[in-house]
Amino acid sequence: MDIAIVGSGYVGLVTGVCLAHIGHHVICCDNNEEKIKVLKSGGVPIYEPGLNELLAKYRKSKRIVFTTSIAEAAKKATVIFIAVGTPSKKNGDADLTYIENVAREVARNMDSYKLLVEKSTVPAQTGNRIERTIRLNLPKNSTLEFDVASNPEFLREGSAVEDFMHPDRVVLGVSSKRAERLLREVYKPLKANIVVTNVATAEMIKHASNSFLATKISFINSVAQICERVGADVEKVAEGMGYDKRIGRSFLNTGIGYGGSCFPKDVDAFVRLAEKSGYDFSILKSVRQVNEDQKKSFIRLIEDKLWNIKDKTIAVWGLAFKANTDDMRSAASLTIIEALQAEGASIQAYDPVAMDNAKKMIKGVKFCEDAYAAVKDADCLLLLTEWDEFRKVDFTKVRDTMSQTVIFDGRNFLDHDALGAFGFECYGIGRGKHA
Ligand code: UGA
Repeated sequence: MDIAIVGSGYVGLVTGVCLAHIGHHVICCDNNEEKIKVLKSGGVPIYEPGLNELLAKYRKSKRIVFTTSIAEAAKKATVIFIAVGTPSKKNGDADLTYIENVAREVARNMDSYKLLVEKSTVPAQTGNRIERTIRLNLPKNSTLEFDVASNPEFLREGSAVEDFMHPDRVVLGVSSKRAERLLREVYKPLKANIVVTNVATAEMIKHASNSFLATKISFINSVAQICERVGADVEKVAEGMGYDKRIGRSFLNTGIGYGGSCFPKDVDAFVRLAEKSGYDFSILKSVRQVNEDQKKSFIRLIEDKLWNIKDKTIAVWGLAFKANTDDMRSAASLTIIEALQAEGASIQAYDPVAMDNAKKMIKGVKFCEDAYAAVKDADCLLLLTEWDEFRKVDFTKVRDTMSQTVIFDGRNFLDHDALGAFGFECYGIGRGKHA
């Protein structure tokens, strides 16, 4: 099939490349000329495992092409995925200006039937608004037909290609048989559970899924707080809970709170949507509060154990909001580093891939070329992102380089017992050791 993707960020680009991989012809569109230039000339503007190789292959065979023109993309394809950004406004609402622009632009350039598919996470009812926008912007007296569908994405950054190829489910929110048939055709090569429903329900599935996952994280982070106080180990609690199939072990990793471009924004948007519909989503408000408190309590732990922060040298391993991505959006590292800098600490940081993005967002940090350079003469080390390579470093070298061998492990990622035997003082989250 000929498919257009409008918006070539994480979601759009991964979706486009993977659709090419399963046999479609894809035209990816973005209004950022620089990004399209990079994509056309063989570059990849984001880091995502596996993406580079697939992109190179299908760019070469022209199974995927790029443009800055929505008109061109809309003319070429029958199915048009909308994957543009939906940032949060100050009041927590999603800003849907880009979605409206795409709908308008597609309508003005339509010359045959089109199926517009929401891929970006949008508040329920956005489908209706897109439909209305298209109707209002079609050429006068036009009899052209179109459909609007919702096909939310469930890709995780860092494993997005894998997630696309092996989805737990594909949700198709449609309002006509024609739209359902076309979307089934798009996903035919994947062996996936397909849930067909109406557009509003599909939108709600996305809201509810992300918010439920965020709830799991805040739940275990709250449990960690109590573990800390009563001398229990949250890692064992999560293991013990996780074997129960009704609960499951995933998303019970305690830490410094969830970040990224999705959970913080999506939880805000769901709270706002509930508010507007006359419901006080108090559980989700607490989820958000617990997430903020989790970062603060990590900072308090550092203040407590390090005694004075002023003039201390603090090493940071990991800046990205999670491992295997260069994404710094709403990364917990931003809040933590800023708070410690405000108290007079010098920060020496290292991240395997997120440093270019981090440099644009944090000032006054010494960015180091590797994990060892970051710990040189440091009074303590903070592990903020669970990159695999941090488990493989030579801790003898680290010990000999640091000024004080104190580690704050914000992800409970390192082997604290082994490090303890090595002479390190290790503090994790909810391990019951520093009550
Ligand atoms: C999330 C969802 O997992 C995807 O299904 C969804 O498609 C995506 O949002 C989206 O809406 O676009 P993502 O933000 O890429 O994906 O990353 P996650 O792996 O879900 O992690 C989110 C945050 O939660 C990270 O900061 C991570 O460190 C944190 N986390 C995750 C925990 O603190 N504990 C856990 O057990 C799991």
